[in-house]
Amino acid sequence: MKLSGLRLHRWRLLRCALAGLVVFSILASYIYLSVRPSYALYDRLHRSEVESANRFLHDSANDQAKFVVFRQLQGAGFNNQAQEILLFHHLALTSNRTYVYQPLVWRPRGEKATVPLSAFLYGVTDSSVPFAGFEDACPPESISHIRLRTKGVTHAALWTRALALLQSPARCIVVDDWILNWSYLASSAIPAIWPSFSQYLSSQFAWSPRILEISNRTYHTLNLRPNHLDIPGDRYLAVHFRRGDFEDHCRILSERQTGFTTWAVLPELQSAILSPPLDTANGSSVMEHCYPSIERVIAAIKMQTERHPLTTAVHVLHDGAWDHPTVYYLTHRLGSELKAQSLGWVGSPIARVTHSGQVPLQWGEADWAVAVDLEIARRADGFIGNGYSSFSTQAIALRLGADSGKLTDISIY
Ligand SMILES: *[C@@H]1O[C@H](CO)[C@@H](O)[C@H](O)[C@H]1NC(C)=O
Ligand SMILES: *[C@@H]1O[C@H](CO)[C@@H](O)[C@H](O)[C@H]1NC(C)=O
Ligand SMILES: *[C@@H]1O[C@H](CO)[C@@H](O)[C@H](O)[C@H]1NC(C)=O
Ligand SMILES: *[C@@H]1O[C@H](CO)[C@@H](O)[C@H](O)[C@H]1NC(C)=O
Repeated sequence: MKLSGLRLHRWRLLRCALAGLVVFSILASYIYLSVRPSYALYDRLHRSEVESANRFLHDSANDQAKFVVFRQLQGAGFNNQAQEILLFHHLALTSNRTYVYQPLVWRPRGEKATVPLSAFLYGVTDSSVPFAGFEDACPPESISHIRLRTKGVTHAALWTRALALLQSPARCIVVDDWILNWSYLASSAIPAIWPSFSQYLSSQFAWSPRILEISNRTYHTLNLRPNHLDIPGDRYLAVHFRRGDFEDHCRILSERQTGFTTWAVLPELQSAILSPPLDTANGSSVMEHCYPSIERVIAAIKMQTERHPLTTAVHVLHDGAWDHPTVYYLTHRLGSELKAQSLGWVGSPIARVTHSGQVPLQWGEADWAVAVDLEIARRADGFIGNGYSSFSTQAIALRLGADSGKLTDISIY
């Protein structure tokens, strides 16, 4: 009797352990499969990039083509790389050169993991050649190596100096120094590029078909109505709620007295900034704009609801992930406080709050999540963002540049 009781106990333990193992493996495979990219598609895109480079080089219309390769960011976030690539493409086109593109470095999978650029920035790859094409067209002895950031070149002079040097007759140029460094991107030299860059965006910017497809699926699934399509759904505002690793990042920025990045420094956008204005000499002021309280984010949303009284939904773009689980909690809190407070505002109350985690991604689509978020932010009736974030400034650039959108539809907290 005693023995069989013990056996039964052991059997139960074993069954429990087995069940645990099964649940664990299912969970692990689920996570693995859901973040595993579509390698077959990436291979296909990679081959078609090389084929289109061959077509470009064998077309006699391109016999006079001149090329430029830039030294680019290797790593950093998607938006940091995308922003730099768009600026380089613009610089190449303005100096009448073919831009030689490189793949995106996909940091979550390691320093050496890359993804084909045409999976994302279709507008760039469509009129450019990949590095393999450059190697065919430009044997090493034909390449001119130049540096643009020599001593004494101020931020303000950099762009025109780059244009002047790139207009040289040399067929193949490699720029050896990294010119768009962080301090340049936060400098007052940036607004001078905006008029031509915004035209570049309106004529050249295009997402890949896959990003557009997932965005379209998102509008239908979440019942949101983007401002460029006549489809049923709730009119919505998009708010970028940057949390995750930003708290530490913001602290460093406040110690260094850093100002907003890229397009958030445009003079015409200064009226979009929720008061009090940014004072970089004051660390608390930098923190207030870079890592604002939920109250402050809600105050910025309120500004947009006053301008869009028919809006009944808010879509929150956030960076919640398994390594930043508290972001989900904070997003939930933002949503419930927003719904409650909006009952007392003019216009319709915010009845629905959706967020990035609800985008209906299918197997193999995880890499596109950030670009889809950007597209959803671009197509909202109003956008509320963070002046220190390259995601927010990219959304602002697309709205104002690619779509000639209104300044008053943007608020920066
Ligand atoms: C630009 O480059 C093309 C060849 O790609 C050449 O035919 C044309 O003359 C150039 N235009 C200018 C303004 O340099
Ligand atoms: C960025 O470039 C400027 C020159 O335009 C230079 O003075 C500065 O040291 C560079 N900063 C970094 C971090 O490389
Ligand atoms: C967008 O998605 C809807 C529903 O999934 C579909 O019926 C429609 O054809 C799609 N439109 C485009 C342009 O892909
Ligand atoms: C610094 O900024 C904080 C937040 O806006 C503000 O409360 C404080 O008064 C500012 N301090 C000074 C000295 O301006």
